[in-house]
Amino acid sequence: MKKEKILELENVTKYYSSELVFEKINLQVVEGEVICLMGKSGSGKSTLLRCLDRLELIDNGIIKFRGVDISNIPLVELRKKIGIVFQDYNLFEHLTVMENLTIGLIKIKKYTKKESQKQALEILQKIDLVDKKDKYPDELSGGQKQRVAIARTLLMNPDILLLDEPTSALDKEMKESVLNLVKKLVQEKRTLIIVSHEEEFLRKISKKIYKLHNHHLISVM
Ligand SMILES: Nc1ncnc2c1ncn2[C@@H]1O[C@H](COP(=O)(O)OP(=O)(O)OP(=O)(O)O)[C@@H](O)[C@H]1O
Ligand SMILES: [Mg+2]
Repeated sequence: MKKEKILELENVTKYYSSELVFEKINLQVVEGEVICLMGKSGSGKSTLLRCLDRLELIDNGIIKFRGVDISNIPLVELRKKIGIVFQDYNLFEHLTVMENLTIGLIKIKKYTKKESQKQALEILQKIDLVDKKDKYPDELSGGQKQRVAIARTLLMNPDILLLDEPTSALDKEMKESVLNLVKKLVQEKRTLIIVSHEEEFLRKISKKIYKLHNHHLISVM
């Protein structure tokens, strides 16, 4: 069975004012595929992910989601389909772990509180944090926060998940817990784009490793 193309980038170019970030990026992401993205600090990795969710506008080229130009997809729809976990967690500090997990389900997916909590509990089991459900983000370690942030995006059931340096701020032990979660997602055949410097880990989970270098996307074998 032919797998569907989830994302297609054709000659995508991005500037910040007159500053070129990247140009003529071409990339295809097929269902169930894991794409890894590396590159020096400032090379444009986060910007590229942000362009996929229209958090940044591109200057040239086209980005298609399931064959449709993303600029023709309503933002709310697009962001349900393309889930992004940012480099710095972005948990709501004034909400508990449970509330962080259910808020999107209640407000965006219009699930009942009861159904949302049921789903949140299931995912908390998977990330091994049931005992932290009533804690606030500042009571969690970095690795725990990052797992909650990933879980929160997963609960929205996106077609593709974008992870921006999920382990960059973590020490070795905490890294491990997040990478284990990523490994689970790969085993579940989720479609992922992961930005990371953990080359050894990336090589274990995917053959599609790219680098942003001198404004271009190059394949790293
Ligand atoms: N909102 C913005 N306005 C103007 N310039 C920006 C903006 N965001 C990023 N830049 C610049 O664009 C370039 C790419 O930034 P980006 O954050 O995408 O890099 P990165 O590869 O994710 O880096 P890092 O590894 O440090 O996270 C950098 O030179 C940065 O200074
Ligand atoms: Mg970045």
